Amino acid sequence: MEFEQVLKGRFSVRNYQDRPIEDEKLSKIIKAGLIAPTACNYQPQRIYVLKSEEALAKIRGITRCAFNAPVVFVLALNEEEEWHNPLQEGITSGQQDVAIAATQMMLEAWNLGLGSCWVCYFPNGEVDKAFGFPEHVKSVMLLPVGYAAEDAVPAKGHMEKRPAGELLKVL
Ligand SMILES: Cc1cc2nc3c(=O)[nH]c(=O)nc-3n(C[C@H](O)[C@H](O)[C@H](O)COP(=O)(O)O)c2cc1C
Repeated sequence: MEFEQVLKGRFSVRNYQDRPIEDEKLSKIIKAGLIAPTACNYQPQRIYVLKSEEALAKIRGITRCAFNAPVVFVLALNEEEEWHNPLQEGITSGQQDVAIAATQMMLEAWNLGLGSCWVCYFPNGEVDKAFGFPEHVKSVMLLPVGYAAEDAVPAKGHMEKRPAGELLKVL
């Protein structure tokens, strides 16, 4: 798919077909997250793939925002591996690193004909505990992925963006 088509065509999918994702496509989405750029190339992102019945039941029991996706990725941060900015105390790269990996996965999914939804509305600590993450690994966001249901459409207002002048400052 044309890159611009991926960027402009993607929308958050919250209802999925009861259809598995082919292994090859799943691998490509995972790869997109693994090869993402990270500060100093420290690669603190962790990608958990929830696809067994047990894991999906667990995540759906924790948040309604797992929807009915056949696969839910948990993007997490290994806090022991994130870059610390030596020029500014308290500034670290981890959340950015994870967000870049997740963005690449979200766009690759769309490129392959699959929908997804970026999800932050879930109790992070509960997820970390439920899936037995090590102490220094913290979930950041969820990415349910799958084939969009036939009737899945962009939510109302999806393309309503603030005027560019409000967001963009050219100095
Ligand atoms: C940081 C972030 C957190 C989000 N959290 C949720 C969420 O918890 N649940 C949900 O249904 N959508 C969530 N979304 C999806 C947004 O609502 C959606 O991207 C936005 O309304 C624009 O619509 P679009 O993705 O269809 O273009 C989130 C998106 C971002 C970027």
